[in-house]
Amino acid sequence: MKIAILNGGGDCAGLNAVTRAVVLRAENYGWEVLGIRYGWDGFLRSDVIGLSFEQVENLVGVGGTILKSSRTNPAKRPDGFNTIIENSKKLELDAVICVGGDDTLGVAAELYKRGLKVVGVPKTMDNDLSSTDYTFGFDSAVNEAVHAIDNLRTTAESHDRVFVVEVMGREAGWVAAYAGIASGATLTIVPEEPFEVEKVVSFVKERIGRGHGATIIVISEGATLSNARIDNDGKLDEFGHPRLGGIAQYLAEQIERATKHDTRVAVLGHVIRGGSPSAFDRVLSTRFGIAAVELVREGKFGTMTSLRGTKIVPVSLEESASKQRLLDPEILLTMKILSH
Ligand code: F6P
Repeated sequence: MKIAILNGGGDCAGLNAVTRAVVLRAENYGWEVLGIRYGWDGFLRSDVIGLSFEQVENLVGVGGTILKSSRTNPAKRPDGFNTIIENSKKLELDAVICVGGDDTLGVAAELYKRGLKVVGVPKTMDNDLSSTDYTFGFDSAVNEAVHAIDNLRTTAESHDRVFVVEVMGREAGWVAAYAGIASGATLTIVPEEPFEVEKVVSFVKERIGRGHGATIIVISEGATLSNARIDNDGKLDEFGHPRLGGIAQYLAEQIERATKHDTRVAVLGHVIRGGSPSAFDRVLSTRFGIAAVELVREGKFGTMTSLRGTKIVPVSLEESASKQRLLDPEILLTMKILSH
């Protein structure tokens, strides 16, 4: 057997641990493993490397991806899907393990329909895929965010300042919610519930009135105003997603203008996406990598590994890629109870 693995979309902590687990398990079976570099872009160009135990042995705790990644969408390239199928035949691949978020897995599902033998592995620090309880990358990002916010709190307290802390999360506020709850943020704002600047300003004023000048507001990059619109730079990636960022800056300016209270911004963005995986993510990535090889071995193509409770189970790739998971009401309520 000859299989290949690719990483697509934004990187996250744990990708290398999946690659390592895939190679180790495949070697148990005597299979050859290729790494496709730069995601779909590399597949379109047959940019591959051989992967062996020596290359991956020490990767479990290494951040980023040795395979590199891209946001290339084959649907936007002339004859993109057919080129990938053809390249797969030329490379004599028996199966491809695609590690990615909804965009990458959506492409994988389409290629499966067109005859490619594909197995998916869900990844994203956003934790917004519907068919798995957790994606790896999320726990690491939250831990990094909590560490950063703990640090910000000491400087905020020293100067009685407001800090608006922006984290990733386009439509789902998982990172903001978990980071906010775990760091004891004074207020957390997520895309699931559009907000009003006036209410945030009143909240900050009321805190200042109570003698609490230091305030930590955690906000998702995709948070929106319920009564106004903020335009981003208009740039879209190949899957049509806008490049987000700037909501924290906007909110901080409004707070400072209305309260005359010293207000600062910290954008954690890629700082918390990068870096080495947490122990939880190392274990989850490793289990997903091994499970993906087993799915190939069993011929369960068109499926994706998924964490359900404590078990790793296969789910339909097409179904998983099409549904996004937003914050559940219980987490939203927890956030509200904790705003103080
Ligand atoms: O991978 C998803 C994500 O983490 C989003 O939350 C964020 O909007 C995006 O990546 C940013 O990606 P890029 O690396 O292209 O700036």
